[in-house]
Amino acid sequence: MSTNIKRIAVFTSGGDAPGMNAAVRAVVRNATHKDLHVYGIYRGYEGMIDGDIKRLETRDVGNIIHRGGTILKTARSKRFMTKEGRQQAHESLMAHDIDACIAIGGNGTFTGASVFNKEFDIPFIGIPGTIDNDLFGTDNTIGFDTAVNTAIEAVDKIRDTADSHNRLFFIEVMGRNAGFIALNTGIGSGASNIMIPERASTIDGLIKQLKKGVKRKKLFSLAIVAEGNKLGNAMEIAELVKAQTDFYDIKVAIIGHLQRGGSPTAADRMLASRLGFSAVEALMDGKTNVMAGVANNKVVYTPFKKAIKNTKTPDADLIHMAEVLGM
Ligand code: F6P
Repeated sequence: MSTNIKRIAVFTSGGDAPGMNAAVRAVVRNATHKDLHVYGIYRGYEGMIDGDIKRLETRDVGNIIHRGGTILKTARSKRFMTKEGRQQAHESLMAHDIDACIAIGGNGTFTGASVFNKEFDIPFIGIPGTIDNDLFGTDNTIGFDTAVNTAIEAVDKIRDTADSHNRLFFIEVMGRNAGFIALNTGIGSGASNIMIPERASTIDGLIKQLKKGVKRKKLFSLAIVAEGNKLGNAMEIAELVKAQTDFYDIKVAIIGHLQRGGSPTAADRMLASRLGFSAVEALMDGKTNVMAGVANNKVVYTPFKKAIKNTKTPDADLIHMAEVLGM
């Protein structure tokens, strides 16, 4: 299908994720290859509202493939949730004659894009960029692999000191509503317990599991707590366990925003390059309101509505495996 698209805009929105720059680079380079003009919108929807928009050419995206964060900056925009904000954003796009947009972000970003598309009929393609990996329609989101690698590196260090002192550590990782980071970090770092929002757990169950470990002569233990798990944060869980047990000296570590930074892994650079490239292809094919993803090593397109709503859940087999291996 041929389109009349001549000028496109790209922006990053929501929490930054390592690999976003590689995706921006791929968008700019493939679009330029197709003789399109590319504009970068700075600070996500905030910059769209304020008209913070600049032309991006191939050299503007040189030397960024390895950099964490986002050269386009990012924001979580409250103003874009209002009709007035979106109206202003539309005026900014029109002032630059933008025909279509590529949005790199997560749930909130695509929700905003869907609403905007309905109101102003500007084609939008989404690229999943969030460390949380909580979007349906892609095996991994950009940034997830790097975040898990960073978390595992941190847990490995905690393991050394936990082992030396015979301690139990509750280690909190990110994932407001999703346990993907916690599950993969837990498996990859050999944790004995993993607490995620998608799986109900109880303090009694947790203590029972810990006791089993003690019986098996486990001298120290690592428990990974997803930020959004239902029992509470790592500090609260540690206090509850402390009140009922005396077999370990208990400590807490919160990895926090360390997980969001750093140079993207090879897997994230590959994913971001493929998705940035494919997003431009999709626009040229006349697609709109879809998110580009990679599933089973193939690029696939999923309607925003489905990507946002059908919340992906961690694989039950992996959860079972983590429990068995963490004994
Ligand atoms: O969505 C990515 C994420 O890192 C979540 O895991 C976390 O809960 C949230 O962003 C933190 O957001 P902020 O940096 O705005 O506090």
